[in-house]
Amino acid sequence: WSRTATKSDGVLSVGGVPLPELVREHGSPAYVLDEADFRSRAGAFRDAFADYDVYYAGKAFLCTTVARWLAEEGLSLDVCSGGELAVAERAGFPMGRVGFHGNNKTLGELERAVELGVGRVIVDSFHEIGRLADVATELGRTVGVMVRVTAGVEAHTHEYIATAHEDQKFGFSIASGDALEAVRRVHEAQGLRLLGLHSHIGSQIFDTSGFEVAARRVLALHARVIEEVGVEMPEMDLGGGFGIAYTTQDDPSDPAQLATEITKIVEHECRALDIALPRLSIEPGRAIAGPSMCTVYEVGTVKEVALDGGLVRTYVSVDGGMSDNIRTALYDADYSATIASRPSGGPPTLSRVVGKHCEAGDIVVKDEFLPADVRPGDLVAVPGTGAYCRSMASNYNHALRPPVIGVRDGKTFTVLRRETVADLLATDVGVL
Ligand code: LLP
Repeated sequence: WSRTATKSDGVLSVGGVPLPELVREHGSPAYVLDEADFRSRAGAFRDAFADYDVYYAGKAFLCTTVARWLAEEGLSLDVCSGGELAVAERAGFPMGRVGFHGNNKTLGELERAVELGVGRVIVDSFHEIGRLADVATELGRTVGVMVRVTAGVEAHTHEYIATAHEDQKFGFSIASGDALEAVRRVHEAQGLRLLGLHSHIGSQIFDTSGFEVAARRVLALHARVIEEVGVEMPEMDLGGGFGIAYTTQDDPSDPAQLATEITKIVEHECRALDIALPRLSIEPGRAIAGPSMCTVYEVGTVKEVALDGGLVRTYVSVDGGMSDNIRTALYDADYSATIASRPSGGPPTLSRVVGKHCEAGDIVVKDEFLPADVRPGDLVAVPGTGAYCRSMASNYNHALRPPVIGVRDGKTFTVLRRETVADLLATDVGVL
């Protein structure tokens, strides 16, 4: 839950706004974004990593409001598509503080990024190095470049979101020598200014040992570049991926502790290698956005289903589902849920919160003990939906993507409005 969430007489409030009131005003389902919580998590990373640049990873959740908050809080921004770049532009985000990621940026995206003057482009393939150098030369600009490297680390997380082992699509392998070759090419290319190496080992990681091994390998390469290519790289990015708790109240990614641990590792390695400490940056997304939002749904139907051994599971169907939170279906992610609109009645009962989509895998919360008297009209809230839920939302079954409603000091404000059927039909230009 975000830090301003409180429950009184069974009614959940966030940012001083009771959720039943929020739903009366804005409808259901809705994502509820706690401004104070988002800003305080962003600020905590900024303060703990005061000697670093903190790039918020926009893929977790991005819109112009959030981009403005980040600019005001002094963070930088990582975007990974022309769409995210357009949001940053519309928000007036300082382009010098934008980093542009992606393993297959289009020519158009590269041109736009260079025209807008983004601070750094993180290159991910030899093709891209050539393409970016051409764009820079054509536009008569010099572009800051980080080289994304693969440290060969097995991060302990879901296979789909681990990114530093050898057999996956991101980065230049350090082990194969491609990373060193990429650095050479960037260094020699016209229009490109080599800033440093970039490593991101994966997402939803708790164990700092993966960061430690990656940092050691990346710093060793950094030292080799000085030695063999004869160039000093001023920067280094260690990526994001700091995990959050989804079903307990623990806050595992304490920024201050992370900063101490990461800095200790890097300083130790730099001493051992006898190199100057580069300016470091990190890219947290989930650890800032994740806890700051919850999703509120309305219950439509309740069904008891008999399981083997005389057990019963209560299926609680809500008015959203895998179109607003794909993470349960895609990563087998765990979430929790609570009744947000009234005091609980009856004994806790094994329940599953499911959506309204046309497939059995449309599960929001796999297992939760909800009160036995859960019934249509109840509001159910699911915490920890700030990262990779709205940003991965779809229109599956022609669902309308829910709004994001900001809350602060007892007031609500619309951050992203609810989609309408007219929005859906606007792209359907077939028949008429
Ligand atoms: N930097 C880079 C280069 C990344 O690829 C990512 C995430 C981040 C930073 C931020 O990672 P974070 O701090 O948010 O963990 N859809 C998946 C997560 C995909 C992460 C992709 N890259 C999920 O819902 O778990």
